[in-house]
Amino acid sequence: MPEITNPRELFLHELGDILYVEQKLADEVLPKLISEVSDDEFRNGLEGHLRETRGHVENVKKVFAELDEMPKAEPCLGFEGLKKEHDKLKSETTPDLIDSVDLGAAARTESYEIAAYEGLRRMAKALGEDRAVDLLDKNLAEEKEALRLVEKIATRVSKESAQALA
Ligand SMILES: [Fe+2]
Ligand SMILES: [Fe+2]
Repeated sequence: MPEITNPRELFLHELGDILYVEQKLADEVLPKLISEVSDDEFRNGLEGHLRETRGHVENVKKVFAELDEMPKAEPCLGFEGLKKEHDKLKSETTPDLIDSVDLGAAARTESYEIAAYEGLRRMAKALGEDRAVDLLDKNLAEEKEALRLVEKIATRVSKESAQALA
């Protein structure tokens, strides 16, 4: 029997999904990336986004509270897939290319978060949960800015590593 039978339950499930992602990023993934990258601008960007990500966790919990629900994280298979793919690629790549590998993973992760928040804000809007929409918009804006920064750094780093070959 399906457990999710209405749009509100679907919204809460998807909210649990992004809570899982934000918690994993804050507790595990971003600190690990910060410890392994060598480019200063990338490391600073990751440190800034780690602080923002802790705020994302809090904002998502506030959205649960707006709906009078306890926060519940749902294991997110999409994110686990991104993580596995990144680990595999890293094991296949020489350490001098680690920044490029991590920038690719960061861009994919931010794009995933953006798609998740856009879907959540659409659902919250349709449910008439305007305060939830505002909280989700805060996270969405920071994800978009993070992606923009990652793309900018990736453009520079790929040029530099291609030039090093020439
Ligand atoms: Fe986030
Ligand atoms: Fe993010």
